[in-house]
Amino acid sequence: MSNTCVVGLQWGDEAKGKIVDLLCDVHDTVVRYQGGANAGHTVIVGDKTYKLSLIPTGAVRPGVDCVIGNGVVIHPPMLLAEMDRLISQGVDFSGRLHISDRAHVIFPYHLEEERWSEESNSSSERLGTTRRGIGPCYKDKVGRVHGIRMGELFRPDHLRERLGRVLEFKNRILGATLKPFEPMNADAICDEYLGYAERLRPYVTDTAAWMASAVKGGRNILFEGAQGSLLDIDYGTFPYVTSSNSSAAGLGTGSGVHARHIDNWVGIVKAYTTRVGGGPFPTELDNEIGQRIRDRGREYGTVTGRPRRCGWFDAVAVRHSAWVSGATELSVMLLDVLSGFETIRVCTGYRRPDGTLLDWFPACLEELGQVTPVYHDLPGWSEDVTGVRNWNDFPANFRNYVRFLAEQVDVPVRRVSVGPERTQTVAVPAGSW
Ligand code: GDP
Ligand code: IMO
Ligand code: MG
Repeated sequence: MSNTCVVGLQWGDEAKGKIVDLLCDVHDTVVRYQGGANAGHTVIVGDKTYKLSLIPTGAVRPGVDCVIGNGVVIHPPMLLAEMDRLISQGVDFSGRLHISDRAHVIFPYHLEEERWSEESNSSSERLGTTRRGIGPCYKDKVGRVHGIRMGELFRPDHLRERLGRVLEFKNRILGATLKPFEPMNADAICDEYLGYAERLRPYVTDTAAWMASAVKGGRNILFEGAQGSLLDIDYGTFPYVTSSNSSAAGLGTGSGVHARHIDNWVGIVKAYTTRVGGGPFPTELDNEIGQRIRDRGREYGTVTGRPRRCGWFDAVAVRHSAWVSGATELSVMLLDVLSGFETIRVCTGYRRPDGTLLDWFPACLEELGQVTPVYHDLPGWSEDVTGVRNWNDFPANFRNYVRFLAEQVDVPVRRVSVGPERTQTVAVPAGSW
């Protein structure tokens, strides 16, 4: 038995989906424990491309059980649309999708609340969210009074009564702030959601209990983090973060499985850095080098299509996130994108405006916004590495670069990726440095 957590160590889109898919070779269950349809995980298998958002990436592997844990927030129409899309690609969910009855539900008013908060803020204050209702739904969960959980969708009278009270409040607030605003009808929303519930009924269960017997029964379980550790509500660049613990810290609360049951914590990093949405990004390259990375890495959001901001690898930020996520090994992704750069830079420290050095990722956003990265320059490689399948066949400068990242983050690299296909992944033998 071996349980694994796969977690992003940057600002999301580190290619977690590809590694989760690969690790399904040795796991039989994949669990999402936080986030929602803000995630976009891509898996390429032969000529098929799968885009997973709310559904665990294990869905593309026949026979693998998929769990949507209590820490996830669910917009039922999006979930059903995603299921239909995957079914049309040949995925069969019968008996293998398990959705927590404790997971909170996203309603139309959450989407409106997010529209209001994103559109009323000035562009510099806008968080640049995915507008999937994630923040407002988590707000209602923590606020308790208005949160509604999946299990409640199966009690029609109770749901109608609750939605009536919630909408009385929401309509008043939204009517006063959003112009134009058409008040929402509680009965209509209730009827709509009861319809979704009927389709989802076979899948909704107490996943905490399901997980307990899965762990005790010796299953090999993979926990799939969404977003990345630098978007974590506690450890990320608050407030430019998502509304959940998207570091590995969210695993226990979001799945009902304690961290003591996990054997490996796999941190996923890109060979450089990207970020979508607002917030500080010390190594950002707002120039032709950044554009070159964006073009070569096809750095456009899976969910929103927005161009991703690109920059050099930030070892200060990843040291922090590897620590809070307890990474025991790293997978370094998209290394092929860096082929052809004469020099590759890695940020190893931050310099404050007064000239002093900072080697820890600061909590204060203002401080982070003022630092200048201290770079270590490494020689690049010119070879196309997309066809290399053995660690020792990579150019020496490629291997030196990977070794340098491992030293800087202080976590061994166990895997490198040089293309989106399953086969374009190379194991790094233990003791390579
Ligand atoms: P996730 O959200 O962390 O799962 O990552 P995304 O799927 O949003 O973004 C990663 C993108 O990089 C996807 O389009 C993958 O197909 C692609 N990809 C994964 N690994 C590699 C790689 O090693 N090289 C290249 N060029 N693309 C990769
Ligand atoms: P995956 O799982 C990259 C970002 C948004 C925004 C901030 C808050 O594919 O790596 P939210 O809608 O969550 O309230 O937006 O978080 N964001 C992501 N960025 N990858 C993701 O997911 C993201 N999910 C949210 O762009 O800056
Ligand atoms: Mg993504």
